[in-house]
Amino acid sequence: MSDNQFGDALLSRTDEHPMSTTAERSVVVQAPGGASPGKEWVIVTRGLKREYDMGGEVVRALQGVDLAIRRNEYVAIMGPSGSGKSTLMNLIGCLDTPTAGEYWLNGLLASTMSDDELARVRNKEIGFVFQTFNLLPRATALHNVELPLVYAGVSSDERKRRAKHALEQVQLDNRMDHRPNELSGGQRQRVAIARALVNNPSILLADEPTGNLDSKTSEEIMRVFETLATTGQTVIMVTHEPDIAAHARRIIVLRDGLVASDERRSTFKQSMGVS
Ligand SMILES: Nc1ncnc2c1ncn2[C@@H]1O[C@H](COP(=O)(O)OP(=O)(O)OP(=O)(O)O)[C@@H](O)[C@H]1O
Ligand SMILES: [Mg+2]
Repeated sequence: MSDNQFGDALLSRTDEHPMSTTAERSVVVQAPGGASPGKEWVIVTRGLKREYDMGGEVVRALQGVDLAIRRNEYVAIMGPSGSGKSTLMNLIGCLDTPTAGEYWLNGLLASTMSDDELARVRNKEIGFVFQTFNLLPRATALHNVELPLVYAGVSSDERKRRAKHALEQVQLDNRMDHRPNELSGGQRQRVAIARALVNNPSILLADEPTGNLDSKTSEEIMRVFETLATTGQTVIMVTHEPDIAAHARRIIVLRDGLVASDERRSTFKQSMGVS
């Protein structure tokens, strides 16, 4: 997609509705550095920066991202290629640490954690869904979903019980014994979503979850996210497609490593002309 698809309208509105006017910013982001946000905030970033040193040349992937996301929100992150979406998701997902700034996850300051602490927090709090599903080809749907629990040392009976429950959440309990090549693309992605949910994470992170799916199947995945969001799961997804983003209740657009706009679905739909 071209940069222009984000629309000059949207960009010029950035000046009228910068995040600094929102409750999120005044209440949470502009609180004193080091102050722990309240319990309802699952994610707070203050001046988050990530720079990559490429042998002398510094790539500034994130240049000071301020964000505050409440528990149970359903958020889409958009923005042109290279604007920092995946970099931000990696930081939110505790796969990476920032060069500068604060990242608070559920009231814990993740930005200063050691790798071991990050791994522990990640396993407990974060479920990942990827564009390419990343399923084990020889394992059944049930076994794929059980895997994170194997690593967590959960007993076999308990694993099966929880994996079945996660597959029910994505309406796939009738395909538990199928291997990935015996499933449709949408069903594979639903297995991947069940796997991400099986640890009962506080955040579901999805980077281009519909990138490999046709539009009908993408809608199927959006219905799953919608159901999860209405039953209390915090969902954050990256997408290039305005139609997909319009399923979320809040749409954040990144540009050059900064938040360019942060809108509710209704305003976003108006500005993008999405029905
Ligand atoms: N590991 C890395 N080392 C060096 N530079 C990186 C690294 N990862 C990302 N970058 C750079 O940081 C910037 C942001 O990259 P990022 O992957 O976050 O973009 P994106 O918004 O996810 O793009 P896309 O839509 O293409 O997936 C880009 O300029 C990219 O080249
Ligand atoms: Mg990316």
